[in-house]
Amino acid sequence: MRISSILSLAALVSISSAKPSGCGKNFPEGFPTPGSSKTIDLPNSDRSYRIHIPENYDVNRRTPVYFSFCGASRNGKEQEGLSQFSNPEFNPDGIAVYPEIWLSNSLANTSHPNDVDFTNDLLTHLEEKLCVDPSRIYANGKSNGGEFAAVIACNATVGSRFAAFSVVSGAWHETGDVPGVGPCEPAMREEGYPFLIFHGTVDQTAPIDGSKEDDEVSLIDVLHKWTERNGCEKDAKWKSNVTVFEDPLVKHASWDCAGKKDIVQFYREEDNGHCWPSTVPNDDYETMGRKKCPGGHYVFNATEYIFDFYKQHRLNQMV
Ligand SMILES: *[C@@H]1O[C@H](CO)[C@@H](O)[C@H](O)[C@H]1NC(C)=O
Ligand SMILES: *[C@@H]1O[C@H](CO)[C@@H](O)[C@H](O)[C@H]1NC(C)=O
Ligand SMILES: *[C@@H]1O[C@H](CO)[C@@H](O)[C@H](O)[C@H]1NC(C)=O
Ligand SMILES: *[C@@H]1O[C@H](CO)[C@@H](O)[C@H](O)[C@H]1NC(C)=O
Repeated sequence: MRISSILSLAALVSISSAKPSGCGKNFPEGFPTPGSSKTIDLPNSDRSYRIHIPENYDVNRRTPVYFSFCGASRNGKEQEGLSQFSNPEFNPDGIAVYPEIWLSNSLANTSHPNDVDFTNDLLTHLEEKLCVDPSRIYANGKSNGGEFAAVIACNATVGSRFAAFSVVSGAWHETGDVPGVGPCEPAMREEGYPFLIFHGTVDQTAPIDGSKEDDEVSLIDVLHKWTERNGCEKDAKWKSNVTVFEDPLVKHASWDCAGKKDIVQFYREEDNGHCWPSTVPNDDYETMGRKKCPGGHYVFNATEYIFDFYKQHRLNQMV
């Protein structure tokens, strides 16, 4: 056994002996009963969030937490419907959390406390109240909420608490353009920053090639930023770019960086707009109409791929 594997084994042992603070406690007051969802306030703040507790929640079992951030002018309840993160078909045993965030809203009241702080405080609160697995915390979002998942990864303190990230139809701005958020400076870590990104080629809200008008950058630049942050050389070419569906054409591109396999992945969806891919109609396909979401549904469920991706990643150290 090489020294590095002995070290990571030691790190694993130390996780299993450190008991997360919410484990073994009575089920907390005010939270939705297992198997249901509720929008509640974060104590000592003016912020709220929607949360789903899985039916099989056990105060003695470490439970993963899946954050999903809504798009501009949307709310946690809508994001729950769109993402299907509370649906046991996709997520049979994890806690799903849908924070009400203002960064995601173009009409944001920027004098409110920063959403990164809110996310950090909310996660600390959940770890105190519930039996959370600190090695399995994940961030996802749609549109501005998708970019926000990356903003979290960019913060060395908060991003370090999340094992992996996924983004559907992200509205990608130049780093530093998001009000109240500084430059992208993730903490160095052995696991890197796993990213799974989905984007439609006919997205008119967040065009795949970016938009000068809205200061949006092209997706290939975003992918290259995350491959570089994961230790690939600048503008690294994908390891593979394979056809997953032929009609409409869905291509899956993947990068290995600094020994981390498939650390950045991308699904490129032809004939899909600013819409969360789903084989059955969802809120996007129902409310945005055929122009933005052609076809009324898509050929795969992004949510299924997201949970498969999350299963490949967990933090191997307590932060
Ligand atoms: C914006 O947020 C601040 C701080 O919470 C609050 O005092 C103020 O009234 C809000 N302004 C608007 C226009 O909602
Ligand atoms: C990162 O987030 C923490 C916690 O919310 C905050 O205190 C800190 O200022 C942030 N760092 C940067 C560089 O924005
Ligand atoms: C993958 O292949 C498609 C064409 O088949 C191409 O348009 C795309 O740029 C390639 N790379 C990525 C990262 O999507
Ligand atoms: C996609 O998810 C929906 C539930 O939202 C499910 O009914 C459908 O069977 C899933 N499609 C596939 C191909 O698994």
